[in-house]
Amino acid sequence: MSIRTLDDLLAEGVSGRRVLVRADLNVPLDKQTGAISDDGRIRAVLPTLGALVEAGAKVVVCSHLGRPKGAPDPQFSLGPVAGRLGELLGAPVHFASDTVGDSARSTVADLADGQVALLENLRFNAGETSKDEAERGAFADQLAAFGDAYVDDAFGAVHRKHASVFDVPARLPHVAGRLVLREVEVLSKLTGDPERPYVVVLGGSKVSDKLAVIEALLPTVDRLLIGGGMCFTFLKAQGLEVGTSLLEKDMVETCRNLLERSGGKIMLPVDVVVADAFAPDAAHDTVRVDGIPSHRLGLDVGPETVAGFSATLSQAKTIFWNGPMGVFEMPAFAAGTRGIAEAITKADAFSVVGGGDSAAAVRALRLDETDFNHISTGGGASLEYLEGKTLPGIAALEN
Ligand code: 3PG
Ligand code: MG
Repeated sequence: MSIRTLDDLLAEGVSGRRVLVRADLNVPLDKQTGAISDDGRIRAVLPTLGALVEAGAKVVVCSHLGRPKGAPDPQFSLGPVAGRLGELLGAPVHFASDTVGDSARSTVADLADGQVALLENLRFNAGETSKDEAERGAFADQLAAFGDAYVDDAFGAVHRKHASVFDVPARLPHVAGRLVLREVEVLSKLTGDPERPYVVVLGGSKVSDKLAVIEALLPTVDRLLIGGGMCFTFLKAQGLEVGTSLLEKDMVETCRNLLERSGGKIMLPVDVVVADAFAPDAAHDTVRVDGIPSHRLGLDVGPETVAGFSATLSQAKTIFWNGPMGVFEMPAFAAGTRGIAEAITKADAFSVVGGGDSAAAVRALRLDETDFNHISTGGGASLEYLEGKTLPGIAALEN
């Protein structure tokens, strides 16, 4: 790979230099309290930030949070993230209340060697996500003025052609941070020559979100296990009735076609947990997939499915898992996700968890993160990497 790394930059010496770090601090927030509900993405960038602090750089961190519409929106402020980042670094993080305005300029100017600043949410500025090159470029100019060098450690955002990801590295000496390097190293094992059997587990709600990755993976994998909300569109494609379960009607034909072409690689649930309503306390039962009552909806895969999927996973040498098997946030519908996660940890395989939701599930179900070989911080980014797409953030580092 022709990408310069953080170690190359450190070898040049960064003491007293301003280093602009693009991080992905897009953490989930509790809907009621606004508190950070999973700080995995903050912890993931600590190795890069710690190395820069240690080397005496003036570290200027920038990130997006959520999807504000190009203007300040307090519910998406990075303020709480600055607090948590400071706790984890063991030193205060100087928070700028804007991204490229007066506060940002003075915060960066006042940094001492080895100190860290965090700029307010990049997406409070229309230029960050603009499709217009000139508008993006003008914003990138302002950001680039805060650094003498640029480090991309925002793996979760490398699939976005955004100013901070794509245009800033064209304006500054640029390197990949530790997290980006590790992610690319791991995911390239899956696209390269994975040890077989290579088994992929896909869940989550929508087939349409996963279609491209299913297409790309079918020729490569030995088995593709499908659960989560998206399995009902596949079951429908097999001619089964799915009650009031999640169904993408316009994808049924596509799923039928995928099943026909899959050469038996696709495995679907044989039983599901059906409920009266989408609610934690809804009455529920396990039924065979050919016996889903017309008035009930499936919210998890059943125990026979977990057993069947687990048997396949136990033979695997390489596993990639993206997307929960059911509504794991509700204890009544968490057994499928937990069962599959446990089967993955028990297998004697190289295991990678991709995607915000499955990573959050691992932590929410209190599974041991170290039982997996790698938990990716990228959802869309890891899927697009596996699809073999060119990722703008990686391409920008290669130049
Ligand atoms: C993510 O959460 O997938 C990344 O932070 C990218 O966010 P986005 O999908 O809003 O671009
Ligand atoms: Mg996303």
